[in-house]
Amino acid sequence: MEQDSNRLKEAAGITAVDDMVKSGMKLGLGTGSTAIYAVRRVGELLTQGVLRDICAFATSIQTEIECEKLRIPFYTLNSRELSSGLDLTIDGADEIDPDNYLIKGGGGAHLIEKIAAYASVKYAIVVDESKLTDHLGSGFPIPVEVLPAARAQVIRVLEKIGATVILREAIRKAGPVITEHGNIILDIRFETEPYGFGKHIDPSLMEAELNLIPGVVENGIFTQKPPVVYIARSNGTIETRLSRHLSP
Ligand code: A5P
Repeated sequence: MEQDSNRLKEAAGITAVDDMVKSGMKLGLGTGSTAIYAVRRVGELLTQGVLRDICAFATSIQTEIECEKLRIPFYTLNSRELSSGLDLTIDGADEIDPDNYLIKGGGGAHLIEKIAAYASVKYAIVVDESKLTDHLGSGFPIPVEVLPAARAQVIRVLEKIGATVILREAIRKAGPVITEHGNIILDIRFETEPYGFGKHIDPSLMEAELNLIPGVVENGIFTQKPPVVYIARSNGTIETRLSRHLSP
């Protein structure tokens, strides 16, 4: 089962790289179990000499380590190489709706992933079909990265706007997950008023509204960078889905 799912993730990652990555690109590399296959494909094509002169940006320590292993040259976004922005970022997602709006942050990397996505000219998302949803937030909670000092106040405001809030707990560490930026993560769902059963969040409004709460560093809704989406189907095909504003 897991093997099948990995096969789909790999197919999506490889197809996106083969379609979209060109020599000389400034390339954002995402985080997670699907994006890693795109990173590996970039490494493979660099080793073969098919790709040259890639300046990469790694969106997490996990991705940096993979770049080190594969000898993919990576830089910070403040470096001379990347300060003018990225040509393309390839990343995974936790949920994707029919408008190609996303929930990300299942791996806690959405802060830097969003900075990379919104700093890129082009954006590609690689998923298997299990990530498709009709309405964001109906299956996967929205991750919200929060300053530890603001925890109780942010929770209070979130509950007031109808969210059910869960502090993300670490595995193999006592207490909460601490992000690469020293923050905590609240996973939130809207199951009660004003959203209620059968009502759905407006992703663009929610993305903006959550970031207005003092102490919220970034939330995992991505609506502002229309991606090209590579969806690996269990029948072995890869569907490429353009965002409406990208369609020819
Ligand atoms: C990392 O924080 C996330 O945004 C990932 O990009 C997302 O969770 C997708 O990960 P998988 O491909 O492992 O499901």
